[in-house]
Amino acid sequence: MLDLHCHILPGLDDGAAELGVSLEMAALAADSGVTHVFATPHCNTRNPQKNFRSRELIEAYTALQRELDRADIPIRILSGAEVLARGHFAQHLAAGDFMTLNASRYLLVEFYFDESPAYIEDCLAAVEAEGLVPVVAHPERYFCVQHAPELAQRWADAGRVLQLNKGSLLGDLGEDAYITAALLLRRGAVSVIASDAHHFRFRTPHMGALLDCLARRFPEADPALLLRENPLRIAKDQTL
Ligand SMILES: [Fe+2]
Repeated sequence: MLDLHCHILPGLDDGAAELGVSLEMAALAADSGVTHVFATPHCNTRNPQKNFRSRELIEAYTALQRELDRADIPIRILSGAEVLARGHFAQHLAAGDFMTLNASRYLLVEFYFDESPAYIEDCLAAVEAEGLVPVVAHPERYFCVQHAPELAQRWADAGRVLQLNKGSLLGDLGEDAYITAALLLRRGAVSVIASDAHHFRFRTPHMGALLDCLARRFPEADPALLLRENPLRIAKDQTL
């Protein structure tokens, strides 16, 4: 499996606070059958640490890979970021400040939970105007989608990629997120499920419980497609 969304880089956001946590997270992911982890630190948030494209950020991916190799943890780190659409989003987009997923055309974008549909649409269109394909991080967590799931269905129909969070399907992120995630998954609107992991104890990158949940509750979903084939196509910059 490939985990498309994971806060595994140490010290860059509210995910892994230091290298030891990153290594524990990677070991958990590997134990559950994950081979590749897209390292997607928060980007363009209100925090001073913006995680825009930089020499330091690129060094952070390779430094973590070196440590994983040294610790014999069989995980390949792929580059990326979870870009919050706010502030001067369009200007940064045009300036190429955002790290796409493994340097592909795919950009992982998140929104404030209470963001308006009109603003989200403007931002998705801005991503496309740059020749990129938006991957919408956890649409099931946005209030507008919880109120009107057909909104996210329309994004998917228009070629935007929907990425559900593992925790939403496991019920860890609230009932509204679960109901919305289940509905989008059953409608076939979802292309990828990822961990959005922040630690090794809570919101972890271990995929075991998710696979059990999919088999039990969502027999119509295709785990191989959602957790391997589609993220692999994204990593290879292929169309879904
Ligand atoms: Fe995230």
